[in-house]
Amino acid sequence: MKGIVFNIFERFVQQTWGGEVWEDVLDTTELITKDPFVGPGDYPDADMFALVANICARYELPLPAALRTFGRFAFAELSAATPQFVAGFSHPKPFLLTLGDIVHRDVKKLYPAATPPEIDAIDSGPDRLRLVYASKRGLGELAYGLIEGVSDHFKTPCQISVADRTADDTRWVFDLDFAAPPNSAGVAG
Ligand code: HEM
Repeated sequence: MKGIVFNIFERFVQQTWGGEVWEDVLDTTELITKDPFVGPGDYPDADMFALVANICARYELPLPAALRTFGRFAFAELSAATPQFVAGFSHPKPFLLTLGDIVHRDVKKLYPAATPPEIDAIDSGPDRLRLVYASKRGLGELAYGLIEGVSDHFKTPCQISVADRTADDTRWVFDLDFAAPPNSAGVAG
């Protein structure tokens, strides 16, 4: 997993619980990595899962909720760090249609060691979009939060439903509806 994701997680923890909590999390997590996480570096997925597990245990947070909240936070950071991907769009739908063929493909070009998920975007009708997430990491909850972050970024409410999800979480199908009132997932929290 790229260092940029670790750096965003660090800011998420610092802004939510404070800088000293992050230091304590680092001190109390058994990490494979001994050096500081730097943006362009590549680190074991296990380290990210261990850091998230530490936060969940510390605050008695269910893992799905923690991943989703982190995803929502992360999109604001990712889009600020790479403004070229969101520039020129004023609605989530055309932006999300570029996710697999442009955004994550360019991430892969920039960082050959990165393994972003496969995201297929299917135009399923006016004001609708189907997103199919596939990754052996099984981080569909993170994808869910990132989609909420996209909706925040473009100030466009969106109803998100999970139409399908494999038992091992490696493939999720999201149906987005920009005309329907947002569900509870679209409400800040
Ligand atoms: C400006 C927009 C975005 C950028 C620059 C970006 C970039 C990245 C990068 C650098 C990674 C780490 C890959 C690695 O370390 O191997 C990643 C992972 C990921 N991205 Fe994106 N991303 C963006 C938007 C999104 C959105 C909107 C979604 C929602 C569907 C998404 C879903 C994910 C997920 C779930 C992962 C975790 C890895 C996995 O599940 O295998 N990304 N992205």
